[in-house]
Amino acid sequence: MDNYRFPNYPLSIIHFSSLCGKLFLSRMKTILTTSPAEAADFIRRGGIVAFPTETVYGLGADVFDRRAIAKVFMAKRRPSNNPLIAHVGNLEQIKLLVSEITPNAQKFIEAFFPAPLTLVLPKAKKVPLVATANLQTIGVRMPKNKLALEFLRACETPIVAPSANLSGKPSPTTWQAVYEDLNGRIDCILQGATTEIGLESTVVDCTSSVPLILRAGAITLEQLQTIEPHTRIYQTPKSELPKSPGLRHRHYSPQAKVVLINPKSKIQNPKSEAFIGLNKPNEKFDLVRICRSVEDYAHSLFDFFRQCDREGIKKIFCQTVEEKGIGLALMDRLKRASED
Ligand code: TXA
Ligand code: MG
Repeated sequence: MDNYRFPNYPLSIIHFSSLCGKLFLSRMKTILTTSPAEAADFIRRGGIVAFPTETVYGLGADVFDRRAIAKVFMAKRRPSNNPLIAHVGNLEQIKLLVSEITPNAQKFIEAFFPAPLTLVLPKAKKVPLVATANLQTIGVRMPKNKLALEFLRACETPIVAPSANLSGKPSPTTWQAVYEDLNGRIDCILQGATTEIGLESTVVDCTSSVPLILRAGAITLEQLQTIEPHTRIYQTPKSELPKSPGLRHRHYSPQAKVVLINPKSKIQNPKSEAFIGLNKPNEKFDLVRICRSVEDYAHSLFDFFRQCDREGIKKIFCQTVEEKGIGLALMDRLKRASED
């Protein structure tokens, strides 16, 4: 979805905002807390707070607070043409965010919410355009994680939250990973457990009669099709090249080079190299993670990428899996991470 209908911003704006970010955020103290009420107080005072969800940790701001939203973009060094998802603590709040709940969105809400599922809908007028990167649509999600819901309910307002990592780095699945990227750049981290799923939510465009999966996630194509049989995966037309570098964001990548291998591949002389997959390799590696299932692989991937970077690994061999169920989302992240 890298070049999915995003407006074109000059790169200079992006660089300028990241420079301002450095100046503006240089001396911030980041408070660690386990109290959702204390974390919500920072939101009320215009601050930005990282919090756990069942997918990955998010970096939250009040959806109606333009200045706080600008801080989120700066803290993450996120290009301003990449829209944010709004999170709600109850279904009533969705009405504050959208001008219409389309029939297929209504069905998905009834079938799945709260869930690792984001629905893109026409935005309400009063949602600031800075949150949606100038789009007239907004992604809406009600997370399932208990602490996330406690935090969102304590905030008493919908919360926009991208993943709480520096742009381009793997999404954080622990509060320690958030701390590694954003300590000193954000007001508060709400400390929860390791996230259950480990990959970001499924994003579905529900603005037309054919729901389109823009990003695969834990709510699978198959599950969505049981509710709306027309649902399909959005494919970028081959003829459409990204129009500017700002339209193509590099994602999910560790510093190490990521190489995809099928379960039968043989690897030559691994050196300063790591392996993750479902089957034990014959070769010797510096770091190996064998996963019990595709779900466990999805759960472990980003954490493993970060561990590899900490340990100075140069190359990570990742076994491919079948592209069905959550395997589709896992392969999407693996392919993106392996892009040069
Ligand atoms: O699981 C998740 O979705 C996590 C947690 C924190 O909820 N959030 C997350 O946010 O992954 P982020 O910003 O890292 O990814 C959101 C994705 C981006 O690829 C963005 O381009 C897309 O959703 N998106 C957001 N709003 C959109 C919109 N109105 N139209 C199309 N795509 C949108
Ligand atoms: Mg992200």
